[in-house]
Amino acid sequence: MLEKGVDIRVEKEIRKIKESALADLKNAGSRDELQGLRVKYLGKKGQLTRVLRGMGSVPPEERPRLGELANQVRQLIEEELDKRLAVLDAAEKERKLAEEAIDVTLPGRPVQFGHKHPLSIIMAEIKDIFTAMGFKVAEGPEVEYDYYNFEALNIPKGHPARDMQDSFYFSEEVLLRTHTSPVQIRVMEKRVPHLPVRIIAPGKVYRRDDDATHSPMFHQVEGLLVDRQCTLGDLKGVLLSFARQMFGQDREIRLRPSFFPFTEPSAEVDISCINCSGKGCRVCSNTGWLEILGCGMVHPKVLANAGYNPEDVVGFAFGMGVERIAMLKYGINDMRLFFENDVRFLHQF
Ligand code: PHE
Repeated sequence: MLEKGVDIRVEKEIRKIKESALADLKNAGSRDELQGLRVKYLGKKGQLTRVLRGMGSVPPEERPRLGELANQVRQLIEEELDKRLAVLDAAEKERKLAEEAIDVTLPGRPVQFGHKHPLSIIMAEIKDIFTAMGFKVAEGPEVEYDYYNFEALNIPKGHPARDMQDSFYFSEEVLLRTHTSPVQIRVMEKRVPHLPVRIIAPGKVYRRDDDATHSPMFHQVEGLLVDRQCTLGDLKGVLLSFARQMFGQDREIRLRPSFFPFTEPSAEVDISCINCSGKGCRVCSNTGWLEILGCGMVHPKVLANAGYNPEDVVGFAFGMGVERIAMLKYGINDMRLFFENDVRFLHQF
């Protein structure tokens, strides 16, 4: 026996489900909520499913109509679910785009350029100063014969001066040059009998030394001038000009008698202290002077060894340590800093 009015009640219920589903959907704010609603209305135990299952209690003649109504509502809910999902997805995409957008007005990241090593900077300055005075740049090998490094420079085997330049030997006759002075001989040999000889020779040299002011490899710049006429006064003038261009126009220099087997007379050259200008301070150990190089008039034996007639020509020579010049100029107190390649140090120049 069928209950009376069941069809009316079922129809009302279907319409109620439709209204409540549409209202729920409008408020759904996320994919999860939508999924929850799908289960709530269309799932196995969902409201609409339950109604369809209960269709058996509806009079047979009403079943097609109510069944169709229920299916329409199911379809509508499904469509609305999809629409809502599309809207939510689009909103989510917009949000993400706004969040991750590239700001094209931001300035670019600066490219890190390298720059010259402090020793290369000083080396270039030294070259500029001397080439402007007419010196040409010459080079010689770092692996050198004993003959050029010592013998031809009037430092025979067993000479005490060899002790100051203990070196790295490949054999008895071949070594890493201990100074740039062998370039003097190599240049003169090629140039003889022409005059003048006027060169500087920058490059690496090697000695068995290693502490805060000595490195087993360091750099020197040699200078050599040979001509029919030239004096110690010329040498001093050239070096004074160099000192002033390198360390400031108010520098003074002094020549102190010294000894090198390949120059006679020989001298050490000091500049007035760049810190106290001669009054005496910690930098110059209270002497007022800072030693920067060795020099002298080329020894007649050296001229003869290279093929010149010492009766006809005279010359002067000088040799300076590039690290020492750089340390004085930049106020660096440990030579090893030049070779450690620590960018925190190198970036300062
Ligand atoms: N060769 C010397 C040294 O290394 C320097 C020097 C060069 C001295 C030229 C006089 C003349 O100590």
